[in-house]
Amino acid sequence: MMARRVIGAELIEQARQRGRVVFEILPGDIVTSLATETAQRLGIALVDGPLEKPVHPVTDGNTALRRGLYRRGAKWIAPSVSARPEAKRFGKIAIVGAGGVGANIAHLAANRDIAREITLIDIAPGVAESIALDLNHTSGITRTPSRVTGSMDMSAVAEASVVLVTAGRARSPGMTRADLIKINKRIIHSVAEVIKTRAPQALVIVVTNPLDEMTVEMLRVTGFPRERVLGMAGTLDSSRFRYSLAKAAGVETADVEAIALGSHGDEMVPVTSRAQIKGRLISDFLSPQQIEYCVNDAITGGGQVVALKKSGSATIAPAHSSMELLDHIRGARTGAVPASVMLQGEYGLNNVVLGVPALVGMSGLLSVEELALTPAELQLLVKAAESIRGRLGL
Ligand code: LAC
Repeated sequence: MMARRVIGAELIEQARQRGRVVFEILPGDIVTSLATETAQRLGIALVDGPLEKPVHPVTDGNTALRRGLYRRGAKWIAPSVSARPEAKRFGKIAIVGAGGVGANIAHLAANRDIAREITLIDIAPGVAESIALDLNHTSGITRTPSRVTGSMDMSAVAEASVVLVTAGRARSPGMTRADLIKINKRIIHSVAEVIKTRAPQALVIVVTNPLDEMTVEMLRVTGFPRERVLGMAGTLDSSRFRYSLAKAAGVETADVEAIALGSHGDEMVPVTSRAQIKGRLISDFLSPQQIEYCVNDAITGGGQVVALKKSGSATIAPAHSSMELLDHIRGARTGAVPASVMLQGEYGLNNVVLGVPALVGMSGLLSVEELALTPAELQLLVKAAESIRGRLGL
């Protein structure tokens, strides 16, 4: 016989702190009235147990085979937040486009001293130069040795080991990212031509939307190998997904591990099967409706910011997300990072740029991680690939 437990308010509070939304009452347990009140106040359901343990669905042979094939990748582990001593410092990084995203990247990069020189480039007279001066004026306080330069001339990309491309039009309310293809394609082409000749060894990170399509264009015009052209979106989409899950479950974002793959658009694939809250399946904390809400919240996150701003899109989270990718590249973070890369057979896909978990280093892409996804998630990835190809007329 199990000992009878007295369930007091303290136990309920502890359960809440651990992020639980359900508390199991076993036969014979004594629940104090204060515990009942506390549960009600904290939104914890007291349910009669013993609860059935979740069962893993039995799959047919085909599904099992497919899962097996895709189970090569390591378990997704959120990158460690503390800086590693092995982290490298870049010599020079160039940021093309000194709008909100470019300026915020320069700010973070200078403040964290990740490069000796940070060059901002923008065709609008005085914009890049003024931000560079403004940032250098902070160094008397921050004492960081990074120096920022500004230029209207694209050839300032010369000698940069990494070129981040943020130039292009941003969305207005009601526009999808795909609506920007025509106008931003022209911009990417002219930027790519200069990178190709002036920074032929650089690693290029595309941030301009529509992200996956513009990464394809950058690859095509520079002729660079896939290892040296990456798209930044997965870190942003994953961050939004984690935030949404944390908010719904009433936990800290640090308690959430989750990634978003697929396109940086309507065909985004926030991976629910591998998402975890406090190391447990998200279905332990959230209802199917809540999970669906979070998936949609991640997909529409960028659009929500555009709708509120009325003109222009998000700048701060995209800049932090670019830093996250740069940190993986320079070894300040370990493990895989979601990034848009040209696929060559991974996940059964070829010749399409899509957000996938990637291992990266100073030379760029090292390898693509093939995570165990559910057949439904795999299907969504395939659909995303088809949509991107369709939009590029391939
Ligand atoms: C976003 C834009 C920048 O997702 O694509 O916020």
